[in-house]
Formats: sequence, C-alpha cells, structure tokens
Amino acid sequence: MYQFTEDCLIGVEQIDNEHRRLFELVNETADLLMKDTVNRNDVTKLFTELNEYAVLHFRHEEEYMQEVNDPELPRQKEMHQAFVSKLKEIELGDIKSTDDKETVKNILEFVARWLFSHILSSDTMIGVFQKMDAKNEETKDPFAFTDEYRTGIEIVDEEHEELFHIIRRANDLITEELLHDKYDEIMSVLDELRNYTIKHFADEEEYMVSINYNGLDAQKKTHEMFVDKLNDINLDDLDDNQQQYLIELVDFLLMWLVNHILKMDKKIPRK
Ligand SMILES: [Fe+2]
Ligand SMILES: [Fe+2]
Ligand SMILES: [Fe+2]
Repeated sequence: MYQFTEDCLIGVEQIDNEHRRLFELVNETADLLMKDTVNRNDVTKLFTELNEYAVLHFRHEEEYMQEVNDPELPRQKEMHQAFVSKLKEIELGDIKSTDDKETVKNILEFVARWLFSHILSSDTMIGVFQKMDAKNEETKDPFAFTDEYRTGIEIVDEEHEELFHIIRRANDLITEELLHDKYDEIMSVLDELRNYTIKHFADEEEYMVSINYNGLDAQKKTHEMFVDKLNDINLDDLDDNQQQYLIELVDFLLMWLVNHILKMDKKIPRK
C-alpha cells in the first residue's frame, strides 16, 4: 500500500481529492498484482485509467494555479509534462508486452514514488505564495523568525532561526544596488545557505530517528527536494534579469521554509 499521508494535503479540496484518487488507483493496481493469477487486461485497464486520470488532474491543477496566479506554474507544467511522457512510454512498452509481474510492480513503484514526492515537494507549495503575500502585508518583516515558527525542540528552533538569518542576508545583498559587483558575496551566502540547510536537515532527521517518528519518510522527501532546488541555483551571468531571478529565488526559499516549518516541522513531537 502506498500511503496518502496527511502531509500530502495542500488545502484545496478538489486537488486533495484528486491526489487521493490517484493513490487509490495505484493501490488498486497493486492489489491486482498481489493476486495469484494476474489478468494482464485488468492491469492494463487500470493503468490506462491511472494515466488518463493523471492527465485530467494535471489540467485541473494547472488551471487552479493559473487562477491564483501561482508563480510556480511553468515549473509545475514541465514536471507534469515529463511525467506524462514517461507514462506514455510505459503504457506502450512494458505492460502490453510482458506478463512479468515484477516489471509491472517496478513501474507502479516508480509511479507511486513520483506522485508522492511531487505532491510533497511541489504541490504542497500551491497557493502558499498568495497566503504569504497577504501575511507579509500585515507583518511588514517577512524575514523575522517569530514565535509561531517555534517547534519547542531546541536544536531545531535554533537552526531554523539561523536559516532565517542567512536568507535575510541573501535578500539584503540581492536587493542592493550595483548588484554586479556583488557576485562573489552572493555566491558565498548562497553556499552558506546550502551547507547550513544540509546540516540542519541531517540534525532534524537524526532527532526524528531518535524518537522513532513516523513522519520521517515524508520529511526526508521534502528535504531532498529543497536541497535539489538549492543545488540548481545558477548565477552564470549576473545581469538585470538575474536580479529578478534572485529576488524570486529568495522569495521561494523563504516561503518554502515557512511553509515547511508550519506544516511539517511543527508536527514533530518533543522528546
Ligand atoms: Fe503538480
Ligand atoms: Fe526544519
Ligand atoms: Fe523538516
């Protein structure tokens, strides 16, 4: 069984229901494979339904993002597209040409994993930008580490606070004038952010292991995605466009962190 956990919820009812349905379809297909005799037609039929449902769902999700003006839309589109092409290859290739249960199981494993990590790492950011914009208008200082972010776990809170500091420094640098003179400084603060993030995730995961926390797997998936995002930062030619890119990047990093702390880290129990 592939668990659709509470962490996968994004708070938009239709999208949440569709994600849940996608998991059901994966599980139904997996159940079929558990039977002694596997009817290949049944598996193919369900798998085709899964494909069609995924395409339909991506359309709904993209429409919703368009509606709320979500800046992540182009990146989501790319990811959805890549997944759909991958599914198409699979449908035409492996399932129709083999009776091999293992192959089909591996495919399902891939589909379930992709969905799980995509929902956790990307879809949970849907709508966050809008909420944050509204909140920033009230609080004036989005980079302040306020009490609402505290988990009550000392090391985690200390490290989160430090992450806020580093992101604030990055933001200060990026919004300064004469940005092109600052290339090295910006690179070094972003490096620092990446290194400190990696250290923090390791510490946080170690703590979760120590208390046998059942949300560890979901946490690891989202941490991984964030580190990927940090590794993808590319400042090759720092010009005026790059400044816009950097402003959006820092925005994203802060929002990701806030969202992650509020939605996931705050659920980690204290010792
Ligand atoms: Fe998505
Ligand atoms: Fe954290
Ligand atoms: Fe975390």
